[in-house]
Amino acid sequence: MTKKATAGAQAQVSGVLGIDIGGSGIKGAPVDLRTGTLLAERVRIPTPEGARPEDVTAVVAELAGVFPDTSGPIGVTFPGIVRGGVTLSAANVDKGWIGLDADDRFSRAVGRPVTLLNDADAAGLAEARFGAGAGVPGVVMMLTFGTGIGSALMYNGVLVPNTELGHIELNGREVEPWASGAAKDREDLSWKQWAKRATEYLEYLERLFSPDLFIIGGGLSKKADKWQEYLKVKTPVKPAGLQNEAGIVGAALMASERRG
Ligand code: BGC
Repeated sequence: MTKKATAGAQAQVSGVLGIDIGGSGIKGAPVDLRTGTLLAERVRIPTPEGARPEDVTAVVAELAGVFPDTSGPIGVTFPGIVRGGVTLSAANVDKGWIGLDADDRFSRAVGRPVTLLNDADAAGLAEARFGAGAGVPGVVMMLTFGTGIGSALMYNGVLVPNTELGHIELNGREVEPWASGAAKDREDLSWKQWAKRATEYLEYLERLFSPDLFIIGGGLSKKADKWQEYLKVKTPVKPAGLQNEAGIVGAALMASERRG
């Protein structure tokens, strides 16, 4: 167990455990589902090089061991399409995930039922319930800009899963490698330059979906003061209220709702 994970092992907490599998880190924490807040400090373990199924599964089991007092199923996010517990795409992780019954694999490794869902869907659900989308009726679209671009589409708080809008084409190119957080870093774009691309993308989505609200999440949501003035479209745009915790909270939410 890593040093950080051992420190978290002292936590005597209940709540539902949410685990968020990301491109650079796998993070877990128990969640209070009445408030959408974390009941203990989140524990982060770096994503194993290559993000192969067996290595990621071992980290998920390690994180579950850090919070043994959490009850019932565990919610886990995955950065790809998830249908019926099976992972069906792997844009930024090992291709061995494609077609894998990951839900079953995690459940066996952890020894508790696991509910698996797409990472952006989890973040969107959490934001719709507790964050920037709370109380907003109509069509809410969440976009996460990180290693990839994730999307979640909600109508009156009900999710349409696996929308994968980071992979649409705009001006003859796929949007994800052009406008993600990773693209900003790779091409050393200024906030203004990145926001210009994101604006073009949001304008396109506006024409397709007529949303009532866009929520911007992922690592960039912490730095809203840097991009907010440049990211102007007709639809209101809000940074994610739960920031980096949205995936964990949404995973726990889904796990508890599937159980009930
Ligand atoms: C994947 C999505 C995921 C997003 C953010 C994309 O490449 O296809 O499923 O939500 O990255 O991780």
